[in-house]
Amino acid sequence: MSETPVDWDSLTFSITETDNMYIAKTAIDEPWAPGNMLPYGNITISPAAGVINYGQGLFEGLKAYRTAAGRVVLFRPEENARRMQRGADRLKMPPVPESIFIDAVEQCVQQNSRWIPPMGKGALYVRPLLNGSGAVLGVAPAPEYTFMVYVTPVGPYFKGGMNCIDLLISDEHHRAAPGGSGGVKAIGNYAPGMMPSKKAKSKGFAEVIYLDAEHHKYIEEVGAANFFCYKEGILYTPELTGTILPGITRDSLIQLARKMGVEVVETKVSHELAMSADEAFCCGTAAVISPIGSITLGENKATYSDGNTPGELTIKLYNALTNIQNEIDEDVLGWVHPVPGI
Ligand code: PLP
Ligand code: COI
Repeated sequence: MSETPVDWDSLTFSITETDNMYIAKTAIDEPWAPGNMLPYGNITISPAAGVINYGQGLFEGLKAYRTAAGRVVLFRPEENARRMQRGADRLKMPPVPESIFIDAVEQCVQQNSRWIPPMGKGALYVRPLLNGSGAVLGVAPAPEYTFMVYVTPVGPYFKGGMNCIDLLISDEHHRAAPGGSGGVKAIGNYAPGMMPSKKAKSKGFAEVIYLDAEHHKYIEEVGAANFFCYKEGILYTPELTGTILPGITRDSLIQLARKMGVEVVETKVSHELAMSADEAFCCGTAAVISPIGSITLGENKATYSDGNTPGELTIKLYNALTNIQNEIDEDVLGWVHPVPGI
């Protein structure tokens, strides 16, 4: 059980089957009880399950890191638990208590510890899922819910890690609209992005930047990551208006930048502002911080620096964030959550 068929030096953001996964189930009006660890494998589900008929499902994403202190830690997992609870409210599912969420994540990391990459080579990506697994024919909440967690070792989300990426602003498609589900990690938010993303990739871009659906003017997000730009000493990021996912990395970087003395403004970020900025990057658990080399909108292309060199603040924030996650710097903000017993 100790060997893994993984080449730690060539990890990508892709699925590797690991040893064990967690499953808990509850009926619609019953309280959640702790679930069980089972061998990783396929699940069976009713063809009439709410999740596969009507998209009643949420997912989360967080990482376990091997650190310089010789421990294995999670980064702010309570925030993932709370975001899943807000999503559950929105999709009319019973929220999983934070204690059950954290216990499930810890057990999955503990029971798959041989899959945690060495420090600096990647991380163990933890994927909690909550969905309506009970059969239902009318459009209504399912009678039964399943909370699962699986893990897989991952490397960088965008090719090359800290290499600059080229992004395309979509003038045709939107990710979310006011009053919709863009502010939670609903599974249904992601498939509509696949066609625009594939199209952008076929033209050589790494991902799409979405504009707001009302004015078609303000930047919302980059596929599955939040957006920042830095102009004349001010760091801008789109304000949370309900259509943008409140990223935990986004929140962490706002706090770290303010601690460095950088002015951070959460506001509407027009594509003009973004395209005239000095630096730009996107961020998320999977993406970490990915510096942006250029943004294209129609015939216009804005290139940051020479298009290949991450900006100074981008690098500073990357180091500040990853040095906390790797326990190189002191965790003064109390963000690191050690996983006991490994
Ligand atoms: N935006 C979207 C749409 C996402 O799916 C994610 C990933 O979770 C993020 C932003 C970044 O959020 P976080 O930093 O919590 O991973
Ligand atoms: C994450 O950053 O954890 C995500 O969920 C993004 C993604 C792979 C959909």
